[in-house]
Amino acid sequence: MDKYKKSNELLKKARELTPLGAQTYSKSFRYYCEGYSPSFIERGKGSHLWDVDGNEYIDFVCALGPITVGYNDERINEAIIKQLEKGIIFSQPSPISIELAEKLVEIIPCAEMVRFVKNGSDATEAAVRLARAYTGKDIIVSCGYHGMHDWYIGSTANHRGIPKEIRQLTKSVDYNNAGALEKLLSEYEGQIAGVILEPIQGNGPEEGYLQRLRELTQENGAVLIFDEVVSGFRYAMGGASELYNVAPDLIAFGKGMANGMPISAVAGKKEIIDLISEGVFVSTTFGGETLSMAAAIKTIEILETENAFEKFWSLGKHMKEGLENLISQNNLGDVLLISGLGPHCGLIFKGIGDLSYLDINTTYQQKMIEEGILSLGINNINLSHSKEEIDAYLIAADMGMHDIKKAINNNSIAGMTKGGKIEPIFKR
Ligand SMILES: Cc1ncc(COP(=O)(O)O)c(C=O)c1O
Repeated sequence: MDKYKKSNELLKKARELTPLGAQTYSKSFRYYCEGYSPSFIERGKGSHLWDVDGNEYIDFVCALGPITVGYNDERINEAIIKQLEKGIIFSQPSPISIELAEKLVEIIPCAEMVRFVKNGSDATEAAVRLARAYTGKDIIVSCGYHGMHDWYIGSTANHRGIPKEIRQLTKSVDYNNAGALEKLLSEYEGQIAGVILEPIQGNGPEEGYLQRLRELTQENGAVLIFDEVVSGFRYAMGGASELYNVAPDLIAFGKGMANGMPISAVAGKKEIIDLISEGVFVSTTFGGETLSMAAAIKTIEILETENAFEKFWSLGKHMKEGLENLISQNNLGDVLLISGLGPHCGLIFKGIGDLSYLDINTTYQQKMIEEGILSLGINNINLSHSKEEIDAYLIAADMGMHDIKKAINNNSIAGMTKGGKIEPIFKR
């Protein structure tokens, strides 16, 4: 029996109708073993997903970050339904937008004012435009991934369709390298409007790094923006600025703030955000949509009352320690690296001999899927994950590592793969 029959049929049809058959690159078949893995999900509950063929998975992808409480949470559903009964969106703002803004200002240390948008990209775009307007300068320094808008994606290898003039206005620096920023600030003296970075990347900031960025931006009249689209609502209630006690000027939030409902926000200093009142254009039709706001308020309440972050760190620690033991027992330190802090951690794959990192990744992921675990290497922990589920993940990971050893012994994955090879479209 073909375990993925319906998924494969739907994928064939979807690819005729929409590029890659998915709306998000990292959710497409390119990131899984095509033909021998699920391509469409029917439903979710807590930490579990069911694909269209009825196969069940413990999910550690969390929809690429948005799921912080768990799929299909009754309490959040109830909050959404209660708001739905009043209406989704109106001709003027709803009071619920004030309630949510007030909550964000309360929990985020440096937030004095908030503007709601929809995607993480909208929030980072808004922050960058505000930084340029506030400083009257054009160049942006970026560090991390920041979304699909021209100012950022144009500066990457994925820049097709973006004019050279725009691409030249964004410079990138490596994470944990304050010296690189110092160099750029001197090379482009008086021209840098802002520095935007994901404050937590890989194993997190080295001691003093974020503080140094704060000093450098202040000294050079540049706006410091934390892109907390991934780190927000995953590591600490107030995000990285709370965790590391560094106050940026602006912060972009998205993904995890409403447990999957589409809402994002740019928050920060009033004197910068309020430029939106003076014509710095940040305005969208659906910015005030209320179902997502109701979901965000309930999500934040649950995260606060259930000690979510303590739990994320402790389950993540269990996962990391388990992975460490398995890598050492299987002697795979040359091809598997542990990356990330507890709430957002997992494996990074490296090539060896004739095997590319994608061969290693494919071999591992095929086994994880066979064992009912959905993971993209780096995992997100949510409130409905249990210690037992992390243990199930580790048992599957051990089996995946056995397969990796076989592939290394053969110096090939030929004959081992039952589906396609993972082939990211996204060039990093
Ligand atoms: C750090 C970071 N910033 C911004 C974005 C863009 O968010 P969205 O895809 O919701 O536009 C992402 C998306 O993955 C992200 O990881």
